[in-house]
Amino acid sequence: MENPINDIENQAFEEIQAAKTSEDLEMVSIRYLGRKGILTAFLRSISSLPEDQRPDAGKNANLLKTKLEKAIQQSRTTMKANKADNGPEVDVTLPGRRRGHGSLHPVTQVLDEICGIFLRLGFDIVEGPEVETDYYNFEALNIPKYHPARDMQDTFYVSDNIVLRTHTSPSQPRTMEKTDPPVRIISAGKVFRCDSDLTHTPMFHQIEGLMVDENISFGDLKGILTTFVHQFFDDKTQLRFRPSYFPFTEPSAEVDIQCVMCRGEGCRVCSRTGWLEVLGSGMVHPAVFENVGYDTKKYTGFAFGVGIERMAMLKYGIDDIRKYFENDVRFLGQF
Ligand code: PHE
Repeated sequence: MENPINDIENQAFEEIQAAKTSEDLEMVSIRYLGRKGILTAFLRSISSLPEDQRPDAGKNANLLKTKLEKAIQQSRTTMKANKADNGPEVDVTLPGRRRGHGSLHPVTQVLDEICGIFLRLGFDIVEGPEVETDYYNFEALNIPKYHPARDMQDTFYVSDNIVLRTHTSPSQPRTMEKTDPPVRIISAGKVFRCDSDLTHTPMFHQIEGLMVDENISFGDLKGILTTFVHQFFDDKTQLRFRPSYFPFTEPSAEVDIQCVMCRGEGCRVCSRTGWLEVLGSGMVHPAVFENVGYDTKKYTGFAFGVGIERMAMLKYGIDDIRKYFENDVRFLGQF
């Protein structure tokens, strides 16, 4: 006797294999398993079979039903996977997605601007290492071991004699060792101190300036720094030189500028003083010249160090130095 179940099975599997699209598959599914499908009809007709054939027929038909459902589902999955391989479907009529424009970090922008000002004043740019020897960071700058001035710059030590530089001043002896006067350089980059609060981050940026020649005086220092501040802020900004102490300069001066927020009236930013401290400076100490073999009778010079983040904060009215390094694009995108 012919077996209708086998015929249905062979036929159905042939069609599943032949299906090329998911629509084809759906048609096969409906043709066999749908409400009026071939297998569904067969299942319904079992009740009209002779009684002794019903159990087997019912069992086989149900087995086939499960088998077909499984096979169709499997084909669907394979088809989907193949489609994914060819990439997602592209709707070429959709408007394109714009990519955001990047921009230079505010610290980089201010660094570039300050470098530009000094380049126009005839300074050259030099670079120094961020991982520095104790010698260049301290000793060569007249800061011997155990000198209390080392406490001013709580330091990250890499090993006994290697530190993350605490300032850009090591560029001074490094440059002078290699060149004879006249020297006119600036050196910018990252510096590191074991420090962290509203106005201090463990890493920040400085620009060092150094000018050495015959007859360089404190007047030259004042002139260069005044020109710099006038170009960076505006030429109405007043400067004030306050006596200070650095082991590598003598005399030393801390430079304040008139508060750029309140124009000297006194506000929260300048703690009601009307002045803001922005840089350290002074005439190069003879001991530093001796360390690099310069003739202290013939040459004099000045040096200064500027904190970049501080300058950028004043220029843009930023109140928390940590904002620079949180990498929040809502903040960085404003510059
Ligand atoms: N290196 C000093 C500091 O980081 C600044 C400075 C530079 C002072 C050059 C004088 C001369 O505090």
